[in-house]
Amino acid sequence: MIAKCLDINEKGHLTVSGVDTVDIAREFGTPTYILDENTIRENCRVYIDSMKKYFGEGSFPLFASKALSFTEIYRIVASEGMGIDCVSPGEIHTAYKAGYPMEKAYFHGNNKTDADIEMALDAGVGCFVVDNREELVSLNAAAGKRGMIQKILLRISPGIDPHTHRKVVTGSVDSKFGTAIETGQAMEMVKAAAECKNLHFAGIHCHIGSQIFDIDPFVSAADIMFRFIKDIKNETGVELEELNLGGGLGVPYVDTDPVIDYEDCIRRMAEQLRKTGESFGLKMPKIILEPGRSIVAAAGVTLYTVGSFKNITGYKSYVSIDGGMPDNPRYALYNSQYTILVANKANEERTVKCTIAGRCCESGDLIAEDIMLQTAERGDILAVLVTGAYNYSMASNYNKIPRPPVVIIKDGVPRVAVKRETFDDLVRNDI
Ligand code: LLP
Repeated sequence: MIAKCLDINEKGHLTVSGVDTVDIAREFGTPTYILDENTIRENCRVYIDSMKKYFGEGSFPLFASKALSFTEIYRIVASEGMGIDCVSPGEIHTAYKAGYPMEKAYFHGNNKTDADIEMALDAGVGCFVVDNREELVSLNAAAGKRGMIQKILLRISPGIDPHTHRKVVTGSVDSKFGTAIETGQAMEMVKAAAECKNLHFAGIHCHIGSQIFDIDPFVSAADIMFRFIKDIKNETGVELEELNLGGGLGVPYVDTDPVIDYEDCIRRMAEQLRKTGESFGLKMPKIILEPGRSIVAAAGVTLYTVGSFKNITGYKSYVSIDGGMPDNPRYALYNSQYTILVANKANEERTVKCTIAGRCCESGDLIAEDIMLQTAERGDILAVLVTGAYNYSMASNYNKIPRPPVVIIKDGVPRVAVKRETFDDLVRNDI
């Protein structure tokens, strides 16, 4: 199976961590997001342990919570000792309400408003990853007003173009994120940051993109960023203590995707950093990584109920489900591939070529096209695998469809972590 927590039981049903998904669908209804808590915890430990081992004490991972953000997830990652990356005041609010220790939160975003900045300072966010000059000025003033010194990193574009979907590349020179080393603008930002009396300029950050399988771009980015730290020292005399290399390591969604050894990737980055450091006589900074997808994707499965099977004579077949782009917009946005099966017929052969369609009033509302599936009839349970990342967090209420619940399984016991939205929830703010 594509994820470790998945199996098929004696009834021929798909299981998540030993729990029958058909029973979950019966108990909690569909569509429903399932998450396996042990998978999430194990993935946190891979990063925490390997980073300590290869980068040394003081280096640690942040969970990029844009991948999955609700109250309980912040409690889970907190109990594993993970930091968090928040990219909006909404994520900060959710983490804060969850009782997350906010001094371990990093605040990202390419356009933080003055109100966002005030709110994050009030919440006690540990570090701001400053994107641009306007933010630098506003944050410096807001911190000064409070008589405090706020820790910051600067977001830098290392000029790396990894091979991934165009919409998830973020570290190239032509990007809305950060400032580029190549153009000289990053060094100007560094000098401006060093002048800010109310900011503690601790380091630099980059994030080259997401769903990347090739380790080389990460190693190159680490090298380029460390060389920039040397240039900063030469030009300003400041030796930065922290280097945040972002997230982005890929996850297999279908059998043809590669499987990445995250520990090995961390080992190779550390090896490169050590070499670069030695050649310039610089000591290894504290390294921060920000994995999102690789922490939660494989822990997730989404369950739907099949409503119809439509064969268009001479064309193709559509299986319609009771969810779609509002709970998973990734196929519509990026053509993302998924492993999909009929959960109550998981052992049966895949004999039907079909397209999985959602129920929005929109032809692009698809989850997959022309895949091979077991025969699917009204009432069957359809499972889409590896949906733990960027599914719940990207869900919408398009067509006034309520969002599904999130059910977490821990040691064979399911519990609701986010309730299913009701129709009343949909009109709660309407006046
Ligand atoms: N750090 C920063 C600054 C980021 O922008 C991101 C993701 C991450 C960390 C986490 O990257 P990960 O380890 O999850 O690849 N919605 C898209 C993915 C967008 C990623 C945005 N930034 C998708 O569904 O594929």
